[in-house]
Amino acid sequence: MFNLILFGPPGSGKGTQSENIVNTYNLEHISTGELLRDEVARHTPLGVEAQKYMDQGILVPDEVVIGMISSRIDESKDARGFIFDGFPRTRLQAESLDKLLEFKNTKIDLVLALDVSETELISRLLGRGLTSGRSDDTKEVITKRIKEYRAKTEQVASYYDGYGKLETVTGNNSVEDTFKLISKNINKYLLPVA
Ligand code: AP5
Repeated sequence: MFNLILFGPPGSGKGTQSENIVNTYNLEHISTGELLRDEVARHTPLGVEAQKYMDQGILVPDEVVIGMISSRIDESKDARGFIFDGFPRTRLQAESLDKLLEFKNTKIDLVLALDVSETELISRLLGRGLTSGRSDDTKEVITKRIKEYRAKTEQVASYYDGYGKLETVTGNNSVEDTFKLISKNINKYLLPVA
């Protein structure tokens, strides 16, 4: 099993590149943002609670997200591996994920951090906001999301760097060029299936 964390600020391309990785390496994609938006759309109690945070561009409480991840992993027992997109976002989430994977006799193999300038992040998210219908793709909430990332999430990179698992790739270039850099790193662990 090969487990990858695709790491980076809002708008760095985690969702976009996850799709490419799924198609090339046949890994199971787990995006906490998508799982939460699905709960919101279905008006579940979890979704109603989460929406309060998401609309403000702040992180949903750790215990909510960690519980959700655990059940999602259990749904794909035969997976070749997982791409974690948008998770972990705090040190507590990182430690919980490590414990959860250890319990399932596996581990995080690689953390790929997408490095994108702030100007580019804002421009991408404002562009997406024109059509996405996402309530958090407005100028005010985007600014808050980036601030939240710098305050609470960036430190997760140093946590994994401490275990020698972190690689940083430039994400400012085109989707195709960024994927080439990502592939170069994944190929050290896993062969493409397509
Ligand atoms: P989440 O859905 O995870 O949002 P995010 O991290 O802010 O990431 P985005 O989906 O906005 O960006 P992305 O990096 O995936 O980029 P994308 O590929 O979409 O989280 C939303 C909210 O949920 C959080 O604010 C929080 O409240 C909550 N949440 C989620 N996970 C949580 C957790 N673990 N703990 C607590 N709370 C949590 O690309 C963006 C745009 O750029 C697209 O339009 C795309 O087409 C374009 N683009 C991508 N790559 C390129 C490129 N190379 N060149 C040009 N354009 C590009």
